[in-house]
This record gives sequence, structure tokens and C-alpha cells, in this order.
Amino acid sequence: MTPSGARERVAGTVVSTVSDERTLLPDAPITSVDQYLESGGGISLGKALSLPRAEITEVVAEAGLRGRGGAGFPAAAKWRGLMRDQDGVKYLCCNAAEGEPATFKDRLLMRTNSYRLIEGLAIGAYAAGAKAAYIVTKKKFQREIDSLERALLEMRELGLAGGVPIELVLGPDHYLLGEEKGLLEVIEGNDPLPRHVPPYIQGLFATPEASNPAAINNVETLFNVPGIIEWGPDWFRSVGTETSPGTMLFTVTGDVERPGMYELPLGTPLSHLLFELAGGPLPGRSLKAVLPGASNAVIVPALFDVPLDFDSMSAIGTGLGAGGFAVYDDTACSVKIAEVFTRFLHVESCGQCPPCKLHSADILEALTRIEAGAADGGDLEEIFIRCSMVTDGQRCGLPDGVVNLVPSLIASFRDEFESHLNGGGCSFARKIDLPKIADRDGTGFIYDWHQALKQPNWTFAG
Ligand SMILES: Cc1cc2nc3c(=O)[nH]c(=O)nc-3n(C[C@H](O)[C@H](O)[C@H](O)COP(=O)(O)O)c2cc1C
Ligand code: SF4
Repeated sequence: MTPSGARERVAGTVVSTVSDERTLLPDAPITSVDQYLESGGGISLGKALSLPRAEITEVVAEAGLRGRGGAGFPAAAKWRGLMRDQDGVKYLCCNAAEGEPATFKDRLLMRTNSYRLIEGLAIGAYAAGAKAAYIVTKKKFQREIDSLERALLEMRELGLAGGVPIELVLGPDHYLLGEEKGLLEVIEGNDPLPRHVPPYIQGLFATPEASNPAAINNVETLFNVPGIIEWGPDWFRSVGTETSPGTMLFTVTGDVERPGMYELPLGTPLSHLLFELAGGPLPGRSLKAVLPGASNAVIVPALFDVPLDFDSMSAIGTGLGAGGFAVYDDTACSVKIAEVFTRFLHVESCGQCPPCKLHSADILEALTRIEAGAADGGDLEEIFIRCSMVTDGQRCGLPDGVVNLVPSLIASFRDEFESHLNGGGCSFARKIDLPKIADRDGTGFIYDWHQALKQPNWTFAG
């Protein structure tokens, strides 16, 4: 069932509440370059190539486009950073790794219109003065790879892929492939083990003489670029908020009537997404907690009216992340939720920074003991102590997830955690698994429930 005013665009629950010329989602997947051109695609690259580089970056800056990959960093600032050294070698990379639990937006976008991603990347690569551009995705995303390869081939043949060479790089199924420094390592042919140095200092194929800076933009970020170039900053800013303009594609998984993909103007209240669009809780149940991915603090019902934009989410102590939400109702145990997300973060930690691997192991052990009723108040306190150390010496933001998520769950559900202690154990019968989306078909999401248990096979002995 589709809520009034919204349209279903692809089989299963994919709903866009924005107008035809705004939406990132075509009515049906675009499967040929002719179809793309007929739908109005391809115009923006031509326009961009006729403009001075700096002007393109200014237009994107004026539009206020912020990164849709997790941190909401201004896209134009990254391109400007590359332009600082006018004559040096630099690279632009598209992050198509999509490894966040409860998220599927980038894969949906690549499945439905890879042409637009390539046009956005070609514009960005030209604006940033890049020597080459890369799209990094996972070897196992076969449908997305097919779509990207076809689009690249057809657009190159018609001269629609711009003047900067674009290469597709296939990486392993690790969460760290999506971490930007891990992603650069994979382009260089290594495991996704994050380096210390940020991409704007050490980019790709750097030497002691040349740092070759790189910038990394998420798929959805680049998807927004052609529209901004074609219709201008005011058009882009006509929906969304002052500091988070535009739309965002949200993924809703878990205990709602209509899990699915929803494209909304930024600033729409979370409650609208949860109750009006995703249909609210199942009959007889009530919603208890919403997790915006694995890296942000939990949102409890008292805060469900928070506007979905970068600053409002940060003001309530959480984050928008990649716009993916794992929703839990009153049958879900908060200790089990904490345990399963911590297990994922611990397993995916590469161990280059010992505090990240070792303290997340201790936190996980403590949570497992609490869940089993074998812990006392000391274990709960131990979790807070470990959380204060898990990020020591970190090379990347992965352990921030533990620090943001676990204490927030304990603070929000303290009574529930305490009732597990000293032999209390868990009174919730339900098993909780990590909502890692493996695929999506006409009926909905297909989950890989065991993802959080798979230990990546690092060549580094972490
Ligand atoms: C552990 C970890 C995993 C990440 N995974 C992804 C991912 O799968 N896709 C993504 O776009 N960004 C991911 N990020 C964020 C990227 O490092 C980077 O900030 C982002 O791609 C920048 O793009 P944006 O500015 O367009 O948002 C991840 C970050 C961390 C710390
Ligand atoms: S912070 Fe953790 S995941 Fe990131 S590089 Fe260090 S050990 Fe690896």
C-alpha cells in the first residue's frame, strides 16, 4: 500500500514523496544510454564542461550539497581541497561499498540509474582537476557491477563519460572497504586496512615527492550533482533545510508494517517516515528504539519527532549516518541489540589499532555476560571504562560506533540492563540479528543474518 501523495516507483516498497524532476529515482530502471538521454540525462556534463572548473565547485557549494555517506561533509569543500594544488596529480573516488547495516540506498540507485552516477562523477572529476576517477564497489554486488559496466561502456562510446578516465574497482565484503582510507588501499591493490593519513594528505599512488591527494564522495552525493548543475543551487535548495538542503533516500528495516526505501526532503520528521510512510509498528506492538546504522546513538520514542537533517540529528546526540534505520519494537531486548551491533563492529575491526580490537572484545564479552544473566554491576561499569578507551590510537571511525551506540543504549534502557544482572538474565524470547541487507527483490529486503559472525581474513595479523 502506498501512502497518499507518494508514488511507488519500483516493485516492493520504494516510495518517493518528491516531484518527478527532483527525484533521484526514475519510474523504472534506466537500462540503456538512449533511455537516459530521452529522460533528460547527459545535459549537465555538457554544461559543466563549458564552465571554468572553479565555477562548478562554486555552484555545488552554493547549493549546500552535503555528503550522503555518513558524515554530511560539504561535497564542494572536498573538490576545492583538491584544486588547491592546481598542477599536482589528484584523484576523485566514488564510494559504492555500501556496508552499513540497514542501508540499501546506493545499491538501489546503481541498479536503477548508473548513468546518472557516472555523469555526476565525471562532473566532479572535471571540477576537481582529477587525473583519474574510480568507482569502488564490492565484488559480490553483481547486479550493480553489471549496471555500472554497461553504463560506462555506453557512455564512453558516446563521449558522455567526460574527459577524465573512470575505472571500476571491485573490493572485498569488509565494512572497512567503505572507510575512505581503506578504500584507497583497495584501489592500490591492498586489503582495506585504513592508513593514518587522511586522503587529502596522502591520496593515491603517493611518493615522498608527490602526495597525490584524493577526495571520496558517496554514490548518492554524486547522484545529486547533475541536477544541481542543470537547474542551479536555488532549485536544489527549494526543498530540505537551510543547512541540509535537498532530499535523501532513507532505508527502513525492522519492526514496521512497510520496511522499504523512502525518498524525502531533508528535515522531514522521523515520525512521519516511521508512522505515515513505513506504517508504524505491527498490530499490538509499540516502537521502542531506532538505530541510525551501527555508528550513531539510539533514538527513543520521545525523540521521534526529530527532523531528519544533519544538524537536528546531531543536536539530539545522534547522526543521520547513511540514512538507514534499524527499527525495534517492544519485543526487542536492548542488551541483545547492543550485543549484535558491537559484535559486528568488533568482528569488522582490522586490529591495526589494538585498543579498537581489544576493548571492543571486552565490551562484547561483558554484554554477552549481561545477556546471559552472569554479570553484575561491575560489568556495566567496565563497559563505560572500555568505551572511553576503545578509540585510543584509532586510524578510522569504526570504533566511534561502539562509543556512540552502547552507552546510549545503556542510558536509555538502564532498568532493562540492570534487570539482566545478578542472575536476572533475559526475559525477551526474541532473537536479534544484525539487519545486514544482502539483496532486494520485488517483495522486499533479503538479509544476510550471519554477516556479523564472519571474521574477515586479513593478511595483516590483527
Ligand atoms: C567503518 C566505516 C565504514 C564506512 N562505510 C561507508 C560506505 O559503505 N559507504 C560510504 O559512502 N561511506 C562509508 N563510510 C564513510 C566514508 O569513510 C566517507 O566518509 C564517505 O564515503 C564520504 O562520502 P560523502 O562525503 O559523500 O558522504 C564509512 C566510514 C567508516 C568509518
Ligand atoms: S580504528 Fe579499528 S578498524 Fe579502524 S584501523 Fe584501527 S583497528 Fe582497524
